[in-house]
Amino acid sequence: MSSAGSHAALMDGVYRRQRHIYDITRKYYLLGRDHMIAGLGVPDGGTALELGCGTGRNLVLATRRYPKARFFGLDISTAMLETAARAVTQEGAGQRVKLAQGDATGFDAQTLFGEAGFDRVFISYSLSMIPGWEKTVGAALAAVKPGGSLHVVDFGRQERLPTWFKRLLRAWLAKFHVTPRDVMAEALESESRKCGASLSFRPLYRGYAVLAVVARPR
Ligand SMILES: C[S@@+](CC[C@H](N)C(=O)[O-])C[C@H]1O[C@@H](n2cnc3c(N)ncnc32)[C@H](O)[C@@H]1O
Repeated sequence: MSSAGSHAALMDGVYRRQRHIYDITRKYYLLGRDHMIAGLGVPDGGTALELGCGTGRNLVLATRRYPKARFFGLDISTAMLETAARAVTQEGAGQRVKLAQGDATGFDAQTLFGEAGFDRVFISYSLSMIPGWEKTVGAALAAVKPGGSLHVVDFGRQERLPTWFKRLLRAWLAKFHVTPRDVMAEALESESRKCGASLSFRPLYRGYAVLAVVARPR
């Protein structure tokens, strides 16, 4: 099995049961997601892609907040995508959301979605689960149209939280195959420089999480 194939199988294994309680349980510790959605500013008639869309929770909320935009979701787990498709249908947003299975470290948006680029690309608590996540940063930026932006929310360095809390959190996250990316700012900075984009990087909740926005020039 290829490494993408084995990672897909791992994610399906992790989420096959978890997805049924995912949205209820994660709301207490995947902090900053609503903040990120509020800051997307998807233009009317515009498009937004979520990489690692999971259960579709963010996509559904984004369709409510930006009722004139179209949305796209990519995930490597077919189990998660099944749940996302159900959530989007229940929301009555099926016409405005397109989902596809794929690997966020390298994907062809034109083939998967019929779109070459997007006004917004966002990644919420997925870089910390993607092996080769730096490639995802590059692929995400490549999918942002000139004048558009990439938005990332994920676990931070917990630099202003007690050491015991940081240690416990990380040991617990590791059980779910989650690794906070301590060099995320550096990776985003380096990818931003390559395309002349500007980076804003903000720790949230004493460094529990981080919120980053990379704006591409026109
Ligand atoms: C912690 S969940 C986050 C889901 C959603 N973004 C949220 O904020 O609730 C991480 C998601 O990333 C997906 N994922 C992991 N590796 C991936 C990859 N290489 N390509 C695409 N999706 C991936 C997992 O299947 C899972 O649905």
